[in-house]
Amino acid sequence: MELADYHRVRPVPTPYGPLFVKAGARGFPDPRYELLARVAELTQGARVLDLNPGVGLASWQAARSGARVVALEPSRAAFRVLSENARVQGFEARLGLPWEAEAEAYDAVLLMLPAERGTRYVEASLAAAGRALKPGGLLWIAGSKKKGFERYFKTAKHWIGYGLVEEREGPYRVAVLEKERTPELPPLWEAFEAELWGRRFTFRTLPGVFSEGRVDPASELLLEALNESKKGAPVLDLGAGYGALALPLAARGARVTALEDDLASVRALEASAAENRLEVDARHSDVDEALTEGERFAIVVTNPPFHVGGSVILDVAKAFVYAAYRYLEKGGRFYLVANPFLKYEPLIESVFGNVETVRADRYKVLAATR
Ligand SMILES: C[S@@+](CC[C@H](N)C(=O)[O-])C[C@H]1O[C@@H](n2cnc3c(N)ncnc32)[C@H](O)[C@@H]1O
Repeated sequence: MELADYHRVRPVPTPYGPLFVKAGARGFPDPRYELLARVAELTQGARVLDLNPGVGLASWQAARSGARVVALEPSRAAFRVLSENARVQGFEARLGLPWEAEAEAYDAVLLMLPAERGTRYVEASLAAAGRALKPGGLLWIAGSKKKGFERYFKTAKHWIGYGLVEEREGPYRVAVLEKERTPELPPLWEAFEAELWGRRFTFRTLPGVFSEGRVDPASELLLEALNESKKGAPVLDLGAGYGALALPLAARGARVTALEDDLASVRALEASAAENRLEVDARHSDVDEALTEGERFAIVVTNPPFHVGGSVILDVAKAFVYAAYRYLEKGGRFYLVANPFLKYEPLIESVFGNVETVRADRYKVLAATR
């Protein structure tokens, strides 16, 4: 799979007809979305908000029943296909975070519980759903018993109103609740401090960002391995999160461009850079989507993701390797940190023609030269 393959949007068959999907975009196939799409009953003309649409399977089904659907999605990768599905299937796709949804504006809300993103993100989404509903409106939630469904359903009943499980299929559940109360949004912004390369940084975070509360030890190891001079060097950080790599690099004088798929992470990175009085060019981007053809970098760093929607998929990480090669200048260096069990070496070797292990500990840091 090369970059062009990664970015390819393609139709796949579903019981309702073809749906657009792409690598790196969650939402299909996924039995929780499929159950939600099948079970949620929505009426003609109802205003419906899908708060975790992914590629938009449940939004599409809601639109088929004549509802006026808004799908709010923070992932660039998912949004790219969601907008395609929205255009074809007649609903509206918006880029945004769940807690940015308009209050008391919807007759129904659909929420596939985003359990992979942690309790703080699920709770913020539930509260956002409760706020977005008109009084008496219905909240449809879907999830898995293995991923906290019972606990989140209990929280939802406590915060929003009476509810019933409508459908069970294996570990998967769909429940519906009627809004009786308006929940408060839990505090969204948090902050923590970390010392990196001998300097203290304050990182500001939002629900759902990677490694909230402490810098990931793999990212620390990558920083340890990066010992060349950065002053003035153009550096690219792929999958930058709240900036655990980007901020120390910027503090050492590098000109950092940080690409990140998740909108909450982009906002956290911008806030963290401002908090530390550093400049980072943060772009909301599905892999290299936000780069222009001619941009080139002296160094590319990444601590790549390997979970999308809960399943281990390496498509994004592979696309990062291709993007690193494509945007590095000649002689430029690529650094990637990973779990030892993930075999990136053959891929990096095949793309760059060389690969070295520059650190091996609980994680390994691989490097290659263009
Ligand atoms: C393992 S985290 C590393 C975050 C940060 N660099 C750090 O060291 O803390 C991987 C990051 O890649 C982001 N990501 C996932 N898919 C992506 C994609 N398609 N394009 C860009 N970034 C993506 C995730 O949102 C996550 O923030």
